[in-house]
Amino acid sequence: MTSSQPDASVQVRDARKSHTVHEKEPGFLGNLRSFVRRKGREVEAVRGVTSDLAPGEVVGFVGPNGAGKTTTLKMLSGLLHPSGGEVWVAGFEPRRQADFLRPITMVMGQKQQLIWDLPALDSFLVNQAIYEISGAQYRETMAEFTEVLGLEGIRSAPLSATTTPATTRR
Ligand SMILES: Nc1ncnc2c1ncn2[C@@H]1O[C@H](COP(=O)(O)OP(=O)(O)OP(=O)(O)O)[C@@H](O)[C@H]1O
Ligand SMILES: [Mg+2]
Repeated sequence: MTSSQPDASVQVRDARKSHTVHEKEPGFLGNLRSFVRRKGREVEAVRGVTSDLAPGEVVGFVGPNGAGKTTTLKMLSGLLHPSGGEVWVAGFEPRRQADFLRPITMVMGQKQQLIWDLPALDSFLVNQAIYEISGAQYRETMAEFTEVLGLEGIRSAPLSATTTPATTRR
């Protein structure tokens, strides 16, 4: 630890992330053109996030689709390197320290685990088996989240009938 290292368990200072997106026109000529002169444009996924979280603090991180939530979390976990700004988590600067992942846990949305043609309940049963969740625990958790999230009417219908592809993005 250095003296400049922050005390808060998560400290983010003007974190930014941009991606270069390469574009290509269709067809053989398009391939040739992009081979000779590659066209790229910058996409700003995160435009300056600043935040402090104290140890033990619980927060919600909400925003519209494409606001940069996942990108921010990926920077916090070291999966993506910020294009600018500073990120510190639990005393680590994630992009610099390879052993950073050992003391943290990150659970990302698991929408891709849901099987499109089956009801969500069937996918949850698969996960119950994979993670060796007892029947009693499974029923208790299922009942709790069915009530909290209002899933009664949709959990037994095929996913394809209850949602649209756009809402299944990560
Ligand atoms: N690898 C990438 N290359 C180009 N653009 C990207 C890349 N990753 C994310 N983006 C863009 O950056 C913006 C932020 O994306 P991000 O996935 O972080 O948003 P989000 O808040 O998690 O959205 P959602 O609510 O849909 O999950 C979006 O406009 C997205 O298209
Ligand atoms: Mg996201």
